Amino acid sequence: MTQIKLNQIYQMDCFDFLKEIQNCSVDLAIIDPPYNMAKANWDTFKSEQDFFNFTFQWIDALIPKLKGNGSIYIFNTPYNSAFILSYLVSKNFIFQNWITWDKRDGMGGGRRRFSNGQETILFFTKGIDHTFNYNDIRIPYDSQERIKHAMKKGILKNGKRWYPNPDGKLCGEVWHIVSERHKAKVNGKIQKMAHITPKPLEMIERIIKASSNPNDVILDCFAGSGTTALAAKKLKRNFLCCELNFEYVQFAQNRLEKLGSTDEN
Ligand SMILES: C[S@@+](CC[C@H](N)C(=O)[O-])C[C@H]1O[C@@H](n2cnc3c(N)ncnc32)[C@H](O)[C@@H]1O
Repeated sequence: MTQIKLNQIYQMDCFDFLKEIQNCSVDLAIIDPPYNMAKANWDTFKSEQDFFNFTFQWIDALIPKLKGNGSIYIFNTPYNSAFILSYLVSKNFIFQNWITWDKRDGMGGGRRRFSNGQETILFFTKGIDHTFNYNDIRIPYDSQERIKHAMKKGILKNGKRWYPNPDGKLCGEVWHIVSERHKAKVNGKIQKMAHITPKPLEMIERIIKASSNPNDVILDCFAGSGTTALAAKKLKRNFLCCELNFEYVQFAQNRLEKLGSTDEN
C-alpha cells in the first residue's frame, strides 16, 4: 500500500492509484485517457468493447473520489464521448458542456468524409453547487474595433445600454487552441516529442481556473507529460497524479522542477 501524498506524480496504474485515494477528497478531475486510436501500446485495445470496458471501469473507480460539489472533465474523440456521456448520465452525473476543442491542426485527410480536426471535452458535475469562476476565463472579443466604440458609448440592447467587459467576453464551448503537435512542426513537418499527445498548458489552465479555487485538490490519473500537475502548481492548486510510463513520469517531474525558474515550459 502506497501512502499517496499531494503534489507528486506517481508511477502507477490508474486502478491501483485510485484505490489509495480517499473518497470525497477531489474537487476537480481532469482526465485525458486512452482514446483507442492505436497511437501507442497504451492506446491499443483488443476491441471497441474492450476499450469501453476499461473506460467505464476507471470511471467507476473515480466517481467515489469526487466531492459532492466536484467537477470532472474527460477528453476523447467525439464518437467515444457519445458513449461516455451516456454512461455518466446513467450514473446520475450532471451534464454541463460538450466542449469542442478545435485543434487548429488536421488529424488526417478525409477522402470519404470530412477531415477530423477536433477533440471533445465532456464537462460534468456531481451536484448542482459546483465551482465555476466564469470571470477568470474571459477571452478577448472578436471585433476589437467595435468593442472600442462600444466602450465609449455602449450598445443599445432591449432598451438598455450594454458596455463590454474590459476583461473580454464569456468563454464559449468551442475552444480554438493550437495543438502542441502543430506548434512543434518545423517547416510543416511533424517532430518527435517527449510525449505523443501532450495537451496545451493554456487549455488545462482554463479548466483549472474555471472549476477550482486556490488550494483545491485536482486529480489526473493519466498524467502523461504532467500538464495538469504543471498547471495546478502554477495556479496554486494541489494535484494528485499518476502515470504508468516511467519515462513520462520523469519528463513530467523535470517540467515541474523547472517551473521554479520559469513559467513557460
Ligand atoms: C492521452 S495521454 C495523457 C496526456 C497528458 N494529458 C499530457 O498533457 O501530457 C494518456 C496517458 O495515460 C497513460 N496511461 C495509459 N493507461 C494507463 C493506466 N492504466 N494507468 C495510468 N496511466 C495510463 C499513458 O501512458 C499516457 O501517457
